[in-house]
Formats: sequence, C-alpha cells, structure tokens
Amino acid sequence: MLSKFLLSSFSILAAYAIDLDTSSKDSICSAVSTISDGILDYYLGTRYGGNVGMFQQPYYWWQAGEAFGSLLDQWYLCEDKTNEQLLYDALVSQTGDNYDYVPLNQTETEGNDDQGVWSFAIMSAAEKGFPSPKNSGVPYEWVELAENIFNSMFGRWDDECGGGLRWQIYDTNVGFDYKNSVSNGCLFQLAARLAKYHNDPKYTYIADYVWEWTTDVDFLTEYDDTIILHDGAHTYANCEDITDKEWTYNYGLYMVGSAYLYNYTGEQRWLDRTNKLLHRSNEIFFNNNVMYEQQCQRADSKSVCNNDQRSFKSLFSRCLGLTSVLAPSTRSTIESLIEASAKGAAASCSGGSDGVTCGIDWTMNSWDGWYGLGEQMSAIEVIQNLLIADRPAPLTASST
Ligand SMILES: *[C@@H]1O[C@H](CO)[C@@H](O)[C@H](O)[C@H]1NC(C)=O
Ligand SMILES: *[C@@H]1O[C@H](CO)[C@@H](O)[C@H](O)[C@H]1NC(C)=O
Repeated sequence: MLSKFLLSSFSILAAYAIDLDTSSKDSICSAVSTISDGILDYYLGTRYGGNVGMFQQPYYWWQAGEAFGSLLDQWYLCEDKTNEQLLYDALVSQTGDNYDYVPLNQTETEGNDDQGVWSFAIMSAAEKGFPSPKNSGVPYEWVELAENIFNSMFGRWDDECGGGLRWQIYDTNVGFDYKNSVSNGCLFQLAARLAKYHNDPKYTYIADYVWEWTTDVDFLTEYDDTIILHDGAHTYANCEDITDKEWTYNYGLYMVGSAYLYNYTGEQRWLDRTNKLLHRSNEIFFNNNVMYEQQCQRADSKSVCNNDQRSFKSLFSRCLGLTSVLAPSTRSTIESLIEASAKGAAASCSGGSDGVTCGIDWTMNSWDGWYGLGEQMSAIEVIQNLLIADRPAPLTASST
C-alpha cells in the first residue's frame, strides 16, 4: 500500500517534459529520440500484421513520407542508427511497381504533392548517403528513384491554365480540378536538387520553367523585397479563382528550391528569391521568432488546423534548415527562428499519459492539449535542425 502510494505520488510530482539545452548535441538528440518514439507509437510497420511503411489511421500516406523524412534527418543529424533498419525497410517498401513511389495501394488517394513529399525523403537519402536500396534488390539507387519520381511527376504537366501540375493524380479524386503551389513546389524543389546533385542544367531549366508558370498563373507574386505565395486555383476557372491562403510548407518548398538553385548556379536572382520568401515567412509565420501555422493557429482564425495542416510545420522546418546551409547568408536569421521555435516546441512536449507528448502551440511554454503525428513530426524537425550547421552539406554525385 505504502510503496504504491509513494510511487504514484512520485509520478505526479515528477515533472515530465522534454528538457532542451539548445547548445548541447546530447540534449538535442535525447529530446529528438524521445519525440521519435512518439512518432513510432503511430507506426503500423512494427505491429503484428501491420503494413511496413504505413501509419495508423487517420494518417495519410504522405504523412508517412514526411515521418520517414524526419527519421532520416534524425539518423543524419544525430548520427543515431536506432531506427535505421525500420526506416530502410519503410523507404524500400513503398517504391511501387514502377519504382516511382506510386504504390498500387495508394492509387485511390495519391496526389502529386504526396508523391512529392516522398521525393523529399528519397532525395535526402541520396544526399545523406543512406544505405543503398540495391542491398535489398531494388534495381535503382536512391537518386535514380528520385529521378523516376521526377519523370513521373513532370510527365503529368498539362496545358490547362497554361501548364502546371494538378493537385491530384487521378481524375476520380476530389482536387483533380485544382492546381496548386504544393504540388508544383514539390516538383520545383526536386528539380533544383537534381540540378545540384547531377550538375545538370537540364534540371535547372525545368525548375525555372516551374517557377515561371507559378508566377504567370499568379500563385506567386514577386515584389522588390518580398514574395507572396498563394495556395492554388481551379482548372474550370482557368486558375483565376485563386485561394489566397498562405501555408508554411508552400513557402518552404519554393524557398529551399531557390536556395539549391542559388547554391548551384551562383545567380543573384535565386538568392533574392530565397531572401524574399524568407522575409515573408518571417513576417507571417512567426510570433517572437516562434513558428506557427497562421492560417489555422491564429487566435482570430476561423478554422482549426486539420490532420494535414498540423504536419506542415515539419516540412517547413526541414526546408528552413537546408536553406540556411545552401544560402549561408540566411543562416543567422534562420538560426534565430529555429532556436526560439525549438525551445517552444520542446516545452510543448509535456502532455499525454507519457508526459512527453508534443502539442501544436509552441508559444505556451506547456502542453496545449493537442496531440498526433503532425505535432510529433513538427517538433522533432524543428528541434533537430538546431544541428544542421554541424553536419556536412548535402552530397552530390561528384562528392559520393
Ligand atoms: C498493400 O496492402 C496490402 C493489404 O493490406 C498489404 O499486404 C501490402 O503489404 C500493401 N503494400 C504496400 C506497398 O504497402
Ligand atoms: C553552397 O553550400 C555550401 C555548403 O553549405 C557552402 O559552403 C557554399 O558557400 C554555398 N555556395 C554559395 C554560392 O553560397
């Protein structure tokens, strides 16, 4: 009786939370490890009868791609091999029959953006020197799988609205009649990364082409000192009914693509574009340097963030970290944003029955009652990007 009482009062007294000393790699990686355990709580691949590469409902396939991208960053930034085999098996499991990440099981739901988020993880595997998929019988290297994704995505470019990718791949899906920044931003970042990786101007040309279309259709508007990037529009309206929402991940994708192109070409216009996207991001997605999804997390916002939207800060954080490496003049600005956001995120990871579940609001210095895969992925990504300057820049074909 007594010992039980003592034990339970102890667990009430013990303040569970994730401690984070942003100047210590050990502290950062210990936080990251705790949060990745929380990510894997939702993973089906390690459960009896569960599918490798899939997360439990209601999490979509694209979020699995985002989650594996986060675990890959953990593997790289923390040099932590704990989840290496699990991650390897997951990345290999979803290649699909054509080795382009359109697996048969996803044909009813997969969008261009979903394939694009997976491309981020696959291209990162190439740039980080992750063990080759050929070890398990896949007939391609990671970068070749990324090229397959690129060819499959760019092959869907059509003439409605003068060009661009649709949101969806299949005409039976809601959103097939919508063209948007995320699908085209995914294609843009992938083209930019392949240009740098292969030292191949063919990809620069296509990245430029995607940028020009996004501008022509008025999703993206470039001013002297800023860029405004809207969400998308419908093909039946010739893309003139623009949805003016501004989401973190759209800015992140165009920002990181511009940073890769600047790094590869050395052209000032790509550095300017990187800076303008960063400028606008800083203006609308941060409050005292702490990141938030202003479209659905603002106090006066009429909507609450849905399942998808709660994951966007994860992709955005990854884009910010890479941008700081590829366009070094952005580094001090981005480091301040990541540092304040990482502290806020860690403080939010004090909820749930395990006491280390992450929340969505990083300004409260405590858990706000929200939880899920999106919250975990956003927290891990912003925290581990504290380490990005300490690790080598992305590999290229000539450096491997
Ligand atoms: C597709 O779904 C089936 C049935 O659930 C499963 O056995 C198979 O492993 C899945 N394939 C992939 C690539 O996830
Ligand atoms: C490209 O990125 C590398 C790695 O961070 C950096 O050393 C180099 O200065 C960058 N190039 C340019 C043009 O900024």
